[in-house]
Amino acid sequence: MRVWTTIPAWRERRRELSGSRIGFVPTMGALHRGHAALVERCRRENDIVVVSIFVNPSQFNEIADLKNYPQTLDSDLRLLEQLGVDEVLAPTAQEMYPNGYRLRVVPVDKAPVMEAAFRPGFLEGVLTVVLKLFNLVRADRAYFGEKDYQQLRAVADLAEEFFCATEILPCPTVREASGLALSSRNARLSSEGRARAAAIFEALTSAAGVDEARRLLEARGFTVEYVEERWGRRLAAVVIEAVRLIDNVSLEEVRHASGT
Ligand code: PAF
Repeated sequence: MRVWTTIPAWRERRRELSGSRIGFVPTMGALHRGHAALVERCRRENDIVVVSIFVNPSQFNEIADLKNYPQTLDSDLRLLEQLGVDEVLAPTAQEMYPNGYRLRVVPVDKAPVMEAAFRPGFLEGVLTVVLKLFNLVRADRAYFGEKDYQQLRAVADLAEEFFCATEILPCPTVREASGLALSSRNARLSSEGRARAAAIFEALTSAAGVDEARRLLEARGFTVEYVEERWGRRLAAVVIEAVRLIDNVSLEEVRHASGT
């Protein structure tokens, strides 16, 4: 496995890979089994597996959130090596944004919802860095988790609108046995908080509607930013122990859980 920290060195390497089918998993590190599932699928479906690790400052709307974001590069690299990754792109912010933020990809949205409403600048930051990464990696396929459902949709729109040559492949959310969706942010929860956070999945799947889901979550001590139904999914963002968590389930799954 090779690790690239500068863009010129990576670009030279990328030229040597032409002709291979390239799969790409973009990450911000602090890797867990959810990322491992993306990488494993990417390994099965491609000749060359590229993973990026870059904690992208432009998608954090709060400095404290960026500062608290877990950084575990050494253990991330060990995991990626075990998973048979070929190339890791781990650039610095200076490498990724040598000219600051001269240009951004901005969704033209008259009524921003959910993540776009509660984290101003988040989607812009994600889309901008993903476009940069797509141009650098020039992968055939890129793998994104369904846990960040709105991000996944925005990235799929980006690929379509900007004629990106990379196919976007959605991958199901990986959960703990309790139902808690795996997230790098879970590492910041106490063991009690982690146990309580299992109630997010339970509320999303068992409630009759969004109002009931919100009530259930509030009754369990969460601060609820939103619970909404869109795109055939029920989605929520909540805060517990000052950690913001998001999750979503398909309405199919909800109907299945309620036996209707
Ligand atoms: O989902 C993430 O980890 C990030 O938002 C991504 C897609 C790597 C962009 O920084």
